[in-house]
Amino acid sequence: TPRVFSGIQPSGGLTLGNYLGAIKRFVDMQGPEFETIYCMVDLHAITVWQDPAALTRNTRELCAGFIAAGIDPEQSILFNQSQVPEHAQLGWIFNCVARMGWMQRMTQWKDKAGKNQQNASLGLFAYPSLMAADILIYHATHVPVGEDQKQHLELTRDIAIKFNNDFGVDFFPITEPVIEGAATRVMSLRDGTKKMSKSDPSDMSRINMTDDADAIALKIRKARTDPDPLPDTLEGLEDRPEARNLVNIYAALADISPEQVIAEHAGQQFGTFKPSLADLAVAKLSPISTEMARLMDDPAEIDRILARGAARAREIAAPILRQTYEIAGMVGAV
Ligand code: TYM
Repeated sequence: TPRVFSGIQPSGGLTLGNYLGAIKRFVDMQGPEFETIYCMVDLHAITVWQDPAALTRNTRELCAGFIAAGIDPEQSILFNQSQVPEHAQLGWIFNCVARMGWMQRMTQWKDKAGKNQQNASLGLFAYPSLMAADILIYHATHVPVGEDQKQHLELTRDIAIKFNNDFGVDFFPITEPVIEGAATRVMSLRDGTKKMSKSDPSDMSRINMTDDADAIALKIRKARTDPDPLPDTLEGLEDRPEARNLVNIYAALADISPEQVIAEHAGQQFGTFKPSLADLAVAKLSPISTEMARLMDDPAEIDRILARGAARAREIAAPILRQTYEIAGMVGAV
């Protein structure tokens, strides 16, 4: 069975973007067709400063979010990255495969480092090489992510190809990004040209998975829109990024296509559409946040789930690391 891997950073609360662009699709891929491995990437999170107590809490909360949203920790392997040292070990090998120039082209590096690149951590620069290791340490072939991770997945392919060529082997698979559905890029509720993000200074720009019903309804009611009603075709949403975003969010939450949303709501004013969207969002998200809060009452149980997941992950990762070392000529690898 083909293997699915994906990861989320425990660097803050989960947003609706993380849920619709990632977690909900992780849940959809769970089943007999794939072996599914999902990771809280704490080693990635610390490429920018994380308060230790907050990192602990965010990792547990992310785990609770995965489970509350429908990831079954028996069926999927659910764990945090630092408990499986093979990620960092393969990451080092890949640091020696990847080229500086490849990393310098990464738009996320340029965005996150900002003007003062000299002051960014070395880890932030090397981030995509560790990400390639996350995936390839399991020989995973399918990686569900939001649109913003596409460039990193192309680099993952480049690293696999270069490793295979350098050593004359056919060892690492070429991974497929799985970027599908209506919500591969959920936008800010305040600005339809910016991605919804946990790091946006305005809390009104995003829906957090821990928001209560009132907060969700308020944020949707206040979401920026244009004055026109909804059109009767999808083409009518071109150049209307905020309207398009709300239609996409509706579609993803309701598990229907944006076309169907338009067909059902054509001609509606936002004064009518927004309350429907708010009701739908509350109906879908409230059970998840309630369950997250319940799971967070027992952190020891969450820690047991993560430890068990890590042990299962290592059973796959350890032999692949050993073979990698052997290919590279490391004494003692076999
Ligand atoms: P991260 O933690 O920023 O985001 C986790 C996942 O959520 C998706 N996402 C979105 N999707 C749609 N709309 C949005 N507004 C939105 N915001 C976030 C992201 O695309 C991602 O799928 N580098 C990764 C974590 C990572 C990883 C990996 C992913 C580390 N190793 C290996 C896949 C495979 C990241 O920073 O995601």
